[in-house]
Amino acid sequence: MIDAIRAAGAVAILRLTDHRRAVAVGTALYEAGLRAMEVTFDHPDAPGTLRALRAELPGDALLGAGTIRTPRQVERAAECGARYCVSPHTDPALIRAVLDAGLEPLPGAGTATEVATALDAGARLVKLFPAGPLGVPYMRALLGPFRGTAFVPTGGIGHEDAGDWLRAGAAAVGLGSDLVPSAPDDISRIAARATRVAEQVASVRQ
Ligand code: 3PG
Repeated sequence: MIDAIRAAGAVAILRLTDHRRAVAVGTALYEAGLRAMEVTFDHPDAPGTLRALRAELPGDALLGAGTIRTPRQVERAAECGARYCVSPHTDPALIRAVLDAGLEPLPGAGTATEVATALDAGARLVKLFPAGPLGVPYMRALLGPFRGTAFVPTGGIGHEDAGDWLRAGAAAVGLGSDLVPSAPDDISRIAARATRVAEQVASVRQ
């Protein structure tokens, strides 16, 4: 999963409450070249959204569940076809529950202590959160003692910033509201932003 997330270079975060719209957006993101998508589990339609995306998108789409706070949500995410679980925080018991379910944990960490706690609990990917306010130099500084850690900086990252984070050593970037706003937005504008992200990933990864 780490290699797949690294190859994808970006995780698009779908915080959308209508699963029909989520499928339309997910399809546009996939066609623009983005392979990894996270459906946030903070609304009742999230399991339906994940199932619908799993049914509609090609098999190489990397689908995960986001905003995971409880073991029950981990179970639901696994049932709906998620391959990884993203959380805003570091909770060793939750990380173990994700691993026990056979999924990849992607816990949120904002400090050196949280990064160490996440890694010690078995995480192989760490969501640096909230990355935008922390900034690229903050991640670079963490990569000193935590060399080789697969950081996925997320939170407040703009679609034009992906390349900066990837060049600084991020495994991938998480892109939420800047890429896919919760408020209605034209699919063609979302696709254009996704294409820009895919271009930056390709230029860094080549
Ligand atoms: C998340 O869901 O992980 C973040 O809230 C996404 O943050 P963003 O919307 O600022 O990208």
